[in-house]
Amino acid sequence: MATPPPPPELRVAPSILSADFGSLSAAVDAVAPGTTWLHVDVMDGHFVPNLTIGPPVVASLREHTDLFFDTHLMITDPGDFLEAFRDAGSDGCTVHVEVGNTARHIAQMRELGLRVGLAANPDTPFEALEPFLDQVDLVLCMTVFPGFGGQSFIVDVMGKVQQVRSAANRAGLTLDVEVDGGIDEHTVVEAARSGANVFVAGSAVFGRAHPLAAAEDILRAAVDTLAGDPS
Ligand code: DX5
Ligand code: ZN
Repeated sequence: MATPPPPPELRVAPSILSADFGSLSAAVDAVAPGTTWLHVDVMDGHFVPNLTIGPPVVASLREHTDLFFDTHLMITDPGDFLEAFRDAGSDGCTVHVEVGNTARHIAQMRELGLRVGLAANPDTPFEALEPFLDQVDLVLCMTVFPGFGGQSFIVDVMGKVQQVRSAANRAGLTLDVEVDGGIDEHTVVEAARSGANVFVAGSAVFGRAHPLAAAEDILRAAVDTLAGDPS
């Protein structure tokens, strides 16, 4: 058995999908004091039935902030765009295991100097992720079917989150385990208990009157949960 890794840092990653796209820089400024990560959702209309943003928007935001850009690629051919996102200023990219060519995408991301993330939809089993756990920095367990903000958290995914965290601990791997979809100050409790440490939240941050306070509340709920003091 490998030496257990240190406990991972807890982070909230506000998703700009729920921000006002006409004032993205203001949205980023609003949450920046409460986080180090920004979640950027990229959709291609093929892998998911929605279209969002591409490298030019990332490049514009890069001029504006030093936050870590956690770029979630919900696209069928991420290999064609990894370099463009890196050049635009993405710090990490996350590709979906369902699109295939995972080993090639991981190698490409490493070569480009990107932090490497691998995502799985709610109905994709742990076994699809397992062969890659020692090659990635982050595993994203989707807690909704990707495509839209504002959906309800699928609690059944917590079994897979536990499997990922347990496997990482057994192997001595310090792995970010991220959850995305339906995360708020309530659902984050179950996610943190299950072993997730990066909490993406869109509507529960930018849909609220006070996005910074909302992001801080989500993080505090996770911290309190792991301190044995769920509120
Ligand atoms: C959904 C995206 C999410 C989305 C989450 O496909 O990957 O990042 O912004 O939105 P909420 O937090 O509203 O469920
Ligand atoms: Zn996302």
